[in-house]
Amino acid sequence: MRGAGSAAHYTQIPLLSTTGFARVHPGPICLRGEYTMPFHFLQEKWRSAAVYRLDGGLFPGYNKEKAPGFDPPGERRYPMEHIMELVRARRSVRSFDGQPLPPALREQMEGFLAQVPNPYDIPVRFCLLDAAERGLSSPVITGETLYLAARVPRVEHGEEAFGYSFETVVLFAQSLGLGTTWIGGTMNRGSFERAIGLKPEERMPCVSPLGRPAAKMSLREALMRKGAKADSREPFESRFFDGDFGKPLTEAAAGVLREPLEAVRLAPSAVNRQPWRVVVKDGAAHFYEKRTKGFSSDAAGDLQKVDLGIALCHFDLCARDLGQRPRFLLEDPGLPAPQDCVYLASFVLD
Ligand SMILES: Cc1cc2nc3c(=O)[nH]c(=O)nc-3n(C[C@H](O)[C@H](O)[C@H](O)COP(=O)(O)O)c2cc1C
Repeated sequence: MRGAGSAAHYTQIPLLSTTGFARVHPGPICLRGEYTMPFHFLQEKWRSAAVYRLDGGLFPGYNKEKAPGFDPPGERRYPMEHIMELVRARRSVRSFDGQPLPPALREQMEGFLAQVPNPYDIPVRFCLLDAAERGLSSPVITGETLYLAARVPRVEHGEEAFGYSFETVVLFAQSLGLGTTWIGGTMNRGSFERAIGLKPEERMPCVSPLGRPAAKMSLREALMRKGAKADSREPFESRFFDGDFGKPLTEAAAGVLREPLEAVRLAPSAVNRQPWRVVVKDGAAHFYEKRTKGFSSDAAGDLQKVDLGIALCHFDLCARDLGQRPRFLLEDPGLPAPQDCVYLASFVLD
């Protein structure tokens, strides 16, 4: 079993800093720091402020001594729902404003990308690629000037680790008001792999455009969203189970896991398949991948495992934001599972 050791290590994660460098912080993940861009979903009166210093829900209250000279708008303590707000606000953005990322924002992104953890301790290395300079594009994206790409070693759980780390960056970008879209298929994969200098022992499952969303969604994007039913998700009870796969879990019965599971439910997935299944038993959430043919290739790996990594990310960040301390485990509980469902990982809430 690998979980216990790595879980202990996992508490020593870098503070997700927006100040340009990552610092090791012996505590839970939190988005924290100075934001030179307003959160686009904040109330109008806060939108005009040039700088926000925000403490996530796990950092109780605003500490003036730690941040001298800063006057937060309205003494607002950032709400516990921070991650949940980001999860709810995110959507795939396929129309961008055509402008380069302002240098300050790019710097913040680069600082954040320097080290993005995942519970597998598998390194996921990120880079930003200028679209015009590198000749990069996607047939479904317009107005983009920048791409986010990442590589992961071709090892067991590499795809889940990639999904977790990449989605952490997606949520961070969301917090800066930037748009993203996971792209695993609709791209010229060879050009992107050459642009990042991918090695034979590595994979680049997905990339994403990164930039400010266009003021108006293009008609093509609107039609794509409609076609993929991108705005809808399957009901809670169809994805989450109580004790075993035979009993659907209701929101009312989910207790403290309701919000973290709701964060899973709202996650993005390839073709919006939502392949995650979670069995909640004895305080643990066991994550399974419901496999569908056609999502695996040698180059990209299994994109549905990437989806599961995204689900684990949403669950973990949301639970931490709510003050819980989920422990990551790789230990199959041995529950009877449908033939096409494969156990991947668990979080235990003590
Ligand atoms: C692993 C993965 C791969 C994806 N690949 C593509 C892609 O190649 N092209 C695309 O337009 N969207 C792609 N998507 C975006 C999904 O279609 C989108 O997340 C889903 O329809 C839900 O919509 P939403 O992200 O707006 O909530 C991908 C998503 C994930 C998670």
